[in-house]
Amino acid sequence: MTKINDVISVRDFNVDTIEKILNHANKMHEALNAKKPLENAKGRLMATLFFEPSTRTRYSFETAIKRLGGDTWGFSSTEGTSVKKGESFIDTIRMADQYVDIIVVRHPREGAARLAAKVAEVPVINGGDGGNQHPTQTLLDLFTIKHYKNDISKQHVALIGDLKHGRTTRSLFYALSMYGAEITLVSPPGLQMSPELVEEVKEQFDVTPNMATELDPNQIDDPDVFYVIRIQVERFADPLEAKRLEAAYRITPELLSRFSKNLIVMHPLPRVNEIDPAVDALPQAVYFKQAGFGVPVRMALIDLLLNKK
Ligand code: NCD
Repeated sequence: MTKINDVISVRDFNVDTIEKILNHANKMHEALNAKKPLENAKGRLMATLFFEPSTRTRYSFETAIKRLGGDTWGFSSTEGTSVKKGESFIDTIRMADQYVDIIVVRHPREGAARLAAKVAEVPVINGGDGGNQHPTQTLLDLFTIKHYKNDISKQHVALIGDLKHGRTTRSLFYALSMYGAEITLVSPPGLQMSPELVEEVKEQFDVTPNMATELDPNQIDDPDVFYVIRIQVERFADPLEAKRLEAAYRITPELLSRFSKNLIVMHPLPRVNEIDPAVDALPQAVYFKQAGFGVPVRMALIDLLLNKK
């Protein structure tokens, strides 16, 4: 079975490797539920270098290494670091490489994590690079689908929202295609998934997604999963255009009543207006559980990388 050295893009994985990670995450999940203390990262240190804002990704990584008996330091804005004095990204990575055993990096520039992995000796995990990839989010998304629905390859997943700029949906789209799942891409005109990526998965995995513009049962045939993302306003040249599109989709209890009761609604969070808070109390809403699964999945990755399993 392939050993993992860094976690940069889902393109670097295959279904076997993903299944290995998810199975390991399942063991971590069981240990957490049993309140069993773990020491897989005892004496090890992780840096979280976040050049872009984050709540869940950074805190769940920090929770994960602490749950494994390790420790962590980092930043979530370059305020107060030498980046403000003009230090380059590469030098910041080189410095952290001297201090810690593993680095998690998030950066607005696509390809930044790949560059960090080239420079650093220690393992590097991509916590999101611009609009490109968010592989650890994808792993926890797959863990969630497996937890609620079992066989990923048999699901029909609708990816909904700003698919042009969403890195979580790009990563997940690729991974679901690897599994051969049925996929419907639902986005307002102008915010479609990149045609190059659609072409790539078609060639690689012989998967052709359905396209839809409305959250309508006539356009999305019997979905098992709604995966919703916000309009990625920070990646728009014109913020007013982003504001206009924010009203495009809203998941409400009334809307859900038009679909199967067994549908689950996922969201990587943060949520803005695209899911009515009235949905939170419904059994379909799994997005907070999904965020919680970030901890066992990241524990599994840290253990596999640090201990070269
Ligand atoms: C996502 C991200 O940063 O891409 N958040 C996350 O990591 N859970 C989604 C988003 O910001 O919309």
